[in-house]
Amino acid sequence: MQRRLMMLFLWFGLLNLVAADEYNRNDFPPEFVFGASTSAYQVEGAALQDGRTPSIYDTFAHQSRNGTLNPDVACDQYHKYKEDVQLMAETGLDAYRFSISWSRLIPNGRGSINPKGLKYYNNLINELIKHGIKPHVTLLHTDVPQVLEDEYEGFLNRRIIEDFTAYVDVCFREFGDRVRYWTTLNEPNIFAFGGYDIGNFPPGRCSPPFGNCSRGNSTTEPYIAAHLLLLAHGSAVRLYKDKYQAKQLGFVGINLLCYHFSPITNTREHIIATRRTYDFLIGWFMHPLTYGDYPEIMKKNAGRKIPIFTEKESKLVKGSFDFIGINYYSVMETNDYSIGLSKYPRDFFADIGVEWKYSDPSVLPDEFMFPNEPWGLERVLEYFKDVYQNPLIFIHENGQVAKHSTATNDQFRVEYIQSHIGSLLNAVRNGSDTRGYFVWSLMDVYELLYGFKSTFGLYHVDFNSPNLTRQPKLSQKWYSGFLKGKNTTT
Ligand code: NOJ
Repeated sequence: MQRRLMMLFLWFGLLNLVAADEYNRNDFPPEFVFGASTSAYQVEGAALQDGRTPSIYDTFAHQSRNGTLNPDVACDQYHKYKEDVQLMAETGLDAYRFSISWSRLIPNGRGSINPKGLKYYNNLINELIKHGIKPHVTLLHTDVPQVLEDEYEGFLNRRIIEDFTAYVDVCFREFGDRVRYWTTLNEPNIFAFGGYDIGNFPPGRCSPPFGNCSRGNSTTEPYIAAHLLLLAHGSAVRLYKDKYQAKQLGFVGINLLCYHFSPITNTREHIIATRRTYDFLIGWFMHPLTYGDYPEIMKKNAGRKIPIFTEKESKLVKGSFDFIGINYYSVMETNDYSIGLSKYPRDFFADIGVEWKYSDPSVLPDEFMFPNEPWGLERVLEYFKDVYQNPLIFIHENGQVAKHSTATNDQFRVEYIQSHIGSLLNAVRNGSDTRGYFVWSLMDVYELLYGFKSTFGLYHVDFNSPNLTRQPKLSQKWYSGFLKGKNTTT
């Protein structure tokens, strides 16, 4: 296995296939789904309306508030969902990926259901169905109810498993007659290290000397949170499979952020460090999900900090998915820590023993754009095929960011999306079992790290206008043309 993986990484280093650049929609299998994504807090607004209570996302967004605009209003999709579904229909989307706000549906985190929350999601789902758009629902996109964080520290406490399972039970029961695609968790890998090691994600925990957080213990917490995320996911999937799947004929999966990690040079240390990074960032979840335990290298490097799976837990998690959702944005270059590190890493990174960075040094935080590296998507899919038994996959997020100044003229985004779909097509032709692709995002949304400054949308949202006017960008026009069967050349 080890030798095979080394060969795989060498191959990745040497190979540089060009993504298909002339294709059209008919080159994909007929049932292949194309859509766009958002998440509840980033798009809904009405954060404190109709009985919703704050989530850890709300709290974090207020603490790190970026700019003067109010994140609680976001795109106001709560009130504008009909207009937005109309935009989706005009674009020609097959599917819309959105998330349910747990604290809108069950404001106390457990117990009674908020009828207005229930009504909102029923309305949204019905509107989508009316327009022939399939709802792909994420059950938790970072926004754990604040009340559960306050009461028992959310994903640091096993009580979350029961509360999460009870919440998803409500969703399956109330919406499962119309929703066939459920994702339990969005990016739990990023949630675990961003929220509990770096502290740049809700719930914003980390420990000195690395961050400014006032609470947390980054040595152990990322591992504990990840373990409980896996168990909560496993419990939700078991419930769905036992109680709903046979009647509702749906599918349930989980989602991960996946970079393609590429060694900074082809020296042996960097190649091995790259393999470790794949194991720590992706294997952290994919290994237990596929094989029932953490990767050996994680157990070795993290030692007693990483929880041990009991037999029962391992059984719960192993095989607990019908599909894997992948969020892919770019390639990261990995650098073995021992041979050329510029700064001391945080706890979790010290266990991996790597430093990673975007390959393009001109990518500065203020002008943030992902280096356009579509070939990395193909490599990630190849990796899943090779290491994780070619699972059924949806690309749940892929998109390019840019500052507001670009408004609707986003030719760079057209190029990004076009080349990534081309790369995806190569992967599908090479046997990846990918069945769908979603652009992040339908419209400009509130972004955790950059507020309203960064824009990913197919639609521009004028956050300064009272109506939050939506306007199609060039990328919307291109995507729509592609979906309606036009040739792709830009
Ligand atoms: C991943 C997250 O799921 C989403 O919430 C975020 O806005 C995008 N990436 C872009 O940063």
